[in-house]
Amino acid sequence: MPVSAPQIVLERLHHLPGGKALLELAAGRDDVELVGGAVRDLLLGHTPRELDVVVADDAIGFAGELARRVGSLAGENPDERFESTFHERFRTALVWWGGGRIDIASRRAESYPAPGALPDVRPGSPEQDLLRRDFTVNAIAVSLTDAQMRSAPHAEEDMARGVLRVLHEQSFIDDPTRLLRMARYAARLGFEVEGSTATLAREAIVEGALGTVSGARIGTELRLALGEPGAVAALAAMSELGVLGALHPRLRFEEPVAGKALALLPEDGRADLALLASLVLPLVLRADGDPHAEIVALLDRWNFPAGDRDRVAAAAVAVPRLIEELGETERPSALRETALGVPLEGVSLAGALGAEEPARRWLEQTRHVHLEITGEDLLAAGIPEGPEIGYRLEAVLRRKLDDELASPGRDAELTAALDACV
Ligand code: CTP
Repeated sequence: MPVSAPQIVLERLHHLPGGKALLELAAGRDDVELVGGAVRDLLLGHTPRELDVVVADDAIGFAGELARRVGSLAGENPDERFESTFHERFRTALVWWGGGRIDIASRRAESYPAPGALPDVRPGSPEQDLLRRDFTVNAIAVSLTDAQMRSAPHAEEDMARGVLRVLHEQSFIDDPTRLLRMARYAARLGFEVEGSTATLAREAIVEGALGTVSGARIGTELRLALGEPGAVAALAAMSELGVLGALHPRLRFEEPVAGKALALLPEDGRADLALLASLVLPLVLRADGDPHAEIVALLDRWNFPAGDRDRVAAAAVAVPRLIEELGETERPSALRETALGVPLEGVSLAGALGAEEPARRWLEQTRHVHLEITGEDLLAAGIPEGPEIGYRLEAVLRRKLDDELASPGRDAELTAALDACV
């Protein structure tokens, strides 16, 4: 007998972290379903980022039992911490540990009190729970008890054809974050947006739907998109749809520039921040105020962590100066003077916009050159403690970079440090 699609889902689930515990718990009841992104990904043969589970009611009680069972099955790893968090308002619970995450929701129906607001939630039927969702391919549920599959209209054909389709005409107005989600899914899954869904998306953007959502929720979706392996394609899709322009009139995504910047970015750089810096770069290139403050205010509105916000702002703001000055630097010591202190993402972007060769030299070579001697060596040689130590070390590093030391090695560095005029 051929194996059905839901049976394949359950078979794959069995091998995922927490999957066995889920299936064991579900065997004693008839209301546990796998749903949403987890089913979509398993049907496509992908590994889901997390498991989404729906139960008839009392998600929180189910989460407690699940955490205990996952914990006892993971007995070989006693240090693993199992955490549960609960969201009364949305009737959801999350069980997470080092090895995985399982989201549990009680079946619910949703209504939106105002466009862009978070939904009001009430207990719902299995059907309502499917139809409250964003796209048909996320509205497929597989029962963990009897492997029956339920789905929203068109869901299975859309999965088979690789199509993203909203479940109703109000979808983007109710929840405009779905515009960003659609771009992310299209990029990640390689799915096409179905014709009338594309029209609804454009209409929602033109009507200003994105202006009704909080900056915090926009930020959450942007961070998810920036963190995807296919982030470039997701941002290109957002740009194409008009999402970026609706978020801020100056945002631009130049795919070739972003691609080049990522190719230049070293492993210790952050691709997500380089892409974000490329998005906000027009605020710097056509500045009429204080671009640094504008970028900080924008990223604050989107709730970016302060460290990431400051790194992106510093990277973007440095780009025009770097483009101008990097091109003129022949000597490695001058390269260091220009690029030192600028986040790697800013140097990569400047490289992508014209100063490619010096940017690459800085990122791949010059920034890694260090002295063999330290301040301790100078103290031991009788230089008094204080700023003079730093000046001498810097002078030697410049000479080392420019290949002006008598020979390689500590001795020549120490001699040059003691001889330096300060
Ligand atoms: N959902 C929705 N509208 C949103 C957010 C979520 O309808 N604005 C629904 C979708 O059905 C989605 C499910 O809630 O599949 C779970 O949300 P989430 O975990 O964000 O989505 P996944 O599809 O699991 O996404 P990913 O693969 O990125 O984890």
